[in-house]
Amino acid sequence: MSETSPVEKLRVELGERGYDILVGPGLIERAGAEILPLMRRRQAVVVTDEHVARHHLPPLRRSLEAHGIAAHAIVLPPGEATKDLAHFGRLVDDILGCGIERGTMLVALGGGVVGDIAGFAAATLLRGIDFVQIPTTLLAQVDSSVGGKTAINTTAGKNLVGAFYQPRLVLADTASLATLPRREVRAGYGEIVKYGLIRDAALFDWLEAEGRALCDLEPAALTRAVMVSCRMKAEIVAADERETGDRALLNFGHTFGHALEAETGFGDRLLHGEAVALGMVLAFDFAVRLGLAPGQDAYRVRRHLAVSGLPTTLAEIGLSGDAADRLLGHMGKDKKVRDGAITLILPRRIGDCFVMPGAPAAELRAFLSGTG
Ligand SMILES: NC(=O)c1ccc[n+]([C@@H]2O[C@H](COP(=O)([O-])OP(=O)(O)OC[C@H]3O[C@@H](n4cnc5c(N)ncnc54)[C@H](O)[C@@H]3O)[C@@H](O)[C@H]2O)c1
Repeated sequence: MSETSPVEKLRVELGERGYDILVGPGLIERAGAEILPLMRRRQAVVVTDEHVARHHLPPLRRSLEAHGIAAHAIVLPPGEATKDLAHFGRLVDDILGCGIERGTMLVALGGGVVGDIAGFAAATLLRGIDFVQIPTTLLAQVDSSVGGKTAINTTAGKNLVGAFYQPRLVLADTASLATLPRREVRAGYGEIVKYGLIRDAALFDWLEAEGRALCDLEPAALTRAVMVSCRMKAEIVAADERETGDRALLNFGHTFGHALEAETGFGDRLLHGEAVALGMVLAFDFAVRLGLAPGQDAYRVRRHLAVSGLPTTLAEIGLSGDAADRLLGHMGKDKKVRDGAITLILPRRIGDCFVMPGAPAAELRAFLSGTG
């Protein structure tokens, strides 16, 4: 890779729903040129949030307008609370209020919250309009903007109403991460570690060596990490778009993680990527307890995540073994539950994970009770 980190490209192979992912600095300024060839009508509605709008909406608008694209902008409040039915209802009304037609392009400019709610709006408005993802968090660049899962939350739980709906293009502008709070960068880093752990031991080795440069947003390391992550996600999604098989591996750390997020209230106390990091540590420790994975691998994972500034114990997030039953209750509501039994993604070793349907509930309870 060259020192100047030019834009790199990869394709998500999904037949007529296939699309390109561009990764590199300066893509927001180039967005008009990249999006125009995909447009059926020179009209775009940009959905973003207040934090992102402050930094990145003006250059996006300039770029769209410079290419003769009429751009409306809808700015949502930031945060997970925005991904609910009430905000969704107002959002679709506002988008319809812009006078859209089937050929209008929706542009999601922001993190996973904006991508998920705007993507779901694109999936449902006029029974489906085209949309482009411009992810501005590390988590969104390496994970949520790729793969076509869109969703909002309901009172019954997270991401329970949604659709599989692919974007027409993803523009991952790595320079946009310069304005992202450091804690959010670390949370996104947890998802990159996940790719190493599920399928690529060499990636995990590289992260042990280069993770710090990456978290310091060193351009070449960043572009490489986003490309490697997107390539792996794109391959897995292309093979299993609707998660009937291997796509479930991408949920490594997520069954524990979602339970931890639910227990801590889905807020600032524990960010999604932090919950996934701790969830991966728990999955490794549980696999060691079951005699399925070597203890030294679990140790390496815990040490790397800890030096990267991510939580690796329940105590760090104010929980103890007393939370075991409540955590199990949350895990029982996971979308991967089959006939009441919890499905876990567990490691055999670093770089090799598998799906375990029907995880042993009594063992799991004893494990969580003893984890402090
Ligand atoms: N669809 C999927 O496949 C998928 C996968 C993983 C996660 N998700 C969803 O993604 C969401 C989490 O996404 P997230 O971690 O990106 O959170 P987020 O969208 O809430 O963004 C985190 C914070 O960073 C701010 N922000 C974003 N970009 C910024 C920038 N460049 N500069 C300054 N501030 C910026 C946001 O305003 C917000 O305050 C969750 O709702 C989760 O369910 C979806």
